[in-house]
Amino acid sequence: MFNRITNDEGYTSARLLANTCYKQPILVGFEESQAITKELRAKGIEAYSCDLQECSGGHPEWHLQIDIFQALKLKKWGGIILHPPCTFTALCGNRWYWNSEKRIEGIELCKNAWNEACKVCDYVALEQPKTIMQKYIGQRTQTIHPWQFGHGETKETWLWLKGFPKLKPTEIVEGRENKIWKMPPSKDRGKLRSKTYPGIASAIAIQFISFLESGYSLSDWDNLHISEKNRIFAKYV
Ligand SMILES: C[S@@+](CC[C@H](N)C(=O)[O-])C[C@H]1O[C@@H](n2cnc3c(N)ncnc32)[C@H](O)[C@@H]1O
Repeated sequence: MFNRITNDEGYTSARLLANTCYKQPILVGFEESQAITKELRAKGIEAYSCDLQECSGGHPEWHLQIDIFQALKLKKWGGIILHPPCTFTALCGNRWYWNSEKRIEGIELCKNAWNEACKVCDYVALEQPKTIMQKYIGQRTQTIHPWQFGHGETKETWLWLKGFPKLKPTEIVEGRENKIWKMPPSKDRGKLRSKTYPGIASAIAIQFISFLESGYSLSDWDNLHISEKNRIFAKYV
């Protein structure tokens, strides 16, 4: 369902780099759900989730229940994907958190995690909803929604990408509900609201790993014909 990209692109000849096998582990930081970690593991990739909380994904053996800055130093990571907390940095929180200590802490955590990850790794992705963070970590690379990945819902999500290609929509569906706003209050509401959508987790795992293992440079990958990309993705479907 979520495995083929849908738009068409022009073809240019692309060169494979010498190193065609990418074997270093992947870190998914700020991830208690293990949504992306499990997708990566299912594809044979050595991936680890990291969160201060226990994982809810059922695989504590793949979970680093430690501070993100410790995890960043733990191994030589081949790729790093970050989902920093957004409660205090989201634009929709301006009314409550404007100039507050919580906001400053949220900005520092997100900015430092991005900067440290970029220092230790050439391939980094960071995800946030509409946020004030562009002022601190630069312009986002792209905007995505769950409805582009098989879920009939809107949730504007911003991605910052270093080294990774932009995520391509996999399954554009009709529904445009904003389910998150309709969630009833509960003690787990915040946690449920921030879990990564399965369609997005699957797209990230397939597209990022296909790119890393293909050995193409980013510009060659961007210019690769859709049929060639789908051929590469097929290995991970
Ligand atoms: C917005 S949620 C991300 C949820 C993620 N999308 C998922 O599917 O699990 C942010 C997470 O960051 C974790 N967190 C906050 N500070 C952290 C730190 N310093 N190191 C590691 N995790 C941290 C929180 O416990 C929370 O689970």
